[in-house]
Amino acid sequence: MPAAPNSWTTMELKERQVITLFPSPLFVGKVSDLTICDRIEATLRAMKKAGEGTQDETFFMTRDDIHKRPEMKELSDLVLSESNRVLDFYRIKRQSHYITDMWGNITNPNHRQALHIHPNCLLSGIIYVTSPPDSGPTQFGDPRPGARMLEPAVTEMNQFNNGQFLVAPDKGVMLMWPSFMPHAVERGRNRTHEHL
Ligand SMILES: [Fe+2]
Repeated sequence: MPAAPNSWTTMELKERQVITLFPSPLFVGKVSDLTICDRIEATLRAMKKAGEGTQDETFFMTRDDIHKRPEMKELSDLVLSESNRVLDFYRIKRQSHYITDMWGNITNPNHRQALHIHPNCLLSGIIYVTSPPDSGPTQFGDPRPGARMLEPAVTEMNQFNNGQFLVAPDKGVMLMWPSFMPHAVERGRNRTHEHL
């Protein structure tokens, strides 16, 4: 009868590797000329003044078709050219692509918006046209169903154990992401309660 193996305590894997499956990219960049932000802000404030949108005490939102307006063309062109790069990144076959909806928000720095996705779109994005101090960050949530079912304590947060990612608003920064990725606006720390 062969002797019982006793080498099991020293067994280990060789050729270890970590393969990251199904990543969720966030595409980030900053406009080459920040004055575009001032032009957009002026346009949005004019829309607000004209009552072209919906409003309450902390929040103004334009209609969702502002990409069709001539004064938004420079932003629409930028969105189309940058999304073209993203579609290339994904190697997506296409004859053309287009913007389905675009809208602007003017909010109190402490405004909060619940986690949501944008169905029936491939890509979603934001451009920050102004960034008051202590504005609420944009929060991205883990898009994987069930991935946060157990949340053990960790010694250090990293991209493999963190269920959220925060981006502080920064004038001129544009973000794009796959539309299945949940996102929200967290409450800011600004306590001036500045009105719109
Ligand atoms: Fe959104």
